[in-house]
Amino acid sequence: MRFTVLTLFPEQVRNFVEASITGRALARDIFALDTVQIRDFCDNAYNKVDDTLYGGGTGMLMMCEPVYQAWNSVISQAKERPHTVFLSPQGAVFTQKKAQELLEYRHLVFLCGHYEGIDRRVLDEIVDEEISIGDYVLTGGEIAACTVIDAVARMIPGVLPSSSAYEEESHMGAGLEAPQYTHPEIWHDMRVPSVLTSGHHANIREWKRLMSIYETWRKRPDLLANLEVSESDWITLLAWRAADADKNEPDTKDSD
Ligand code: ADE
Repeated sequence: MRFTVLTLFPEQVRNFVEASITGRALARDIFALDTVQIRDFCDNAYNKVDDTLYGGGTGMLMMCEPVYQAWNSVISQAKERPHTVFLSPQGAVFTQKKAQELLEYRHLVFLCGHYEGIDRRVLDEIVDEEISIGDYVLTGGEIAACTVIDAVARMIPGVLPSSSAYEEESHMGAGLEAPQYTHPEIWHDMRVPSVLTSGHHANIREWKRLMSIYETWRKRPDLLANLEVSESDWITLLAWRAADADKNEPDTKDSD
């Protein structure tokens, strides 16, 4: 898999992707990263990539030609036409499902905008899909591109130690992940749930399934409709909720 990022700030992208887990995978050639400096494709003496808006308005807009030529430098060398993604707050909001879809492409090209954005004509010509990483506005598309690359790259075989490392995680099965614990068994008077130390695999699997529903219900009730919850599941979930409510009741005991 190859990621190519068209950007005015290639070092920002490289610094991020070359660090940590993705950096190790890059060094082992599990995937490839190219960055293309859009400014290198200016056809004016001042290396100017942006200009004022037709029709008025504040700020500057990135011009068509440097963006087009930067993109074309990639496309003209690619064996197959890559899939081009424009990062913008107006795109469809990025999800785990979208990350899985993008994993199917052999070559993804990310176009990062700056200033007030990019002239619509070049977007209409080169962009296959527009993605936002959330309903807020960043100074540019680089952080968004890094976010998408990270979410896709970690699912490439060999990037994480094993696929089970991500298959059980939040959002992979539409719900959130069950809470996880490591040593010591008791910390600050809090004990690891006894089912997890029981060694009973079927019970552990069932506890994780129910806990995943419970966490989704508590933290992201908007996702609950994606999950199958039986009547008997609800009995357990309601009992857990009642027990949690008891735990969180203010202490009514006399303090003197
Ligand atoms: N560029 C600026 N804001 C963005 C966002 N929320 N998502 C993707 N790209 C962006």
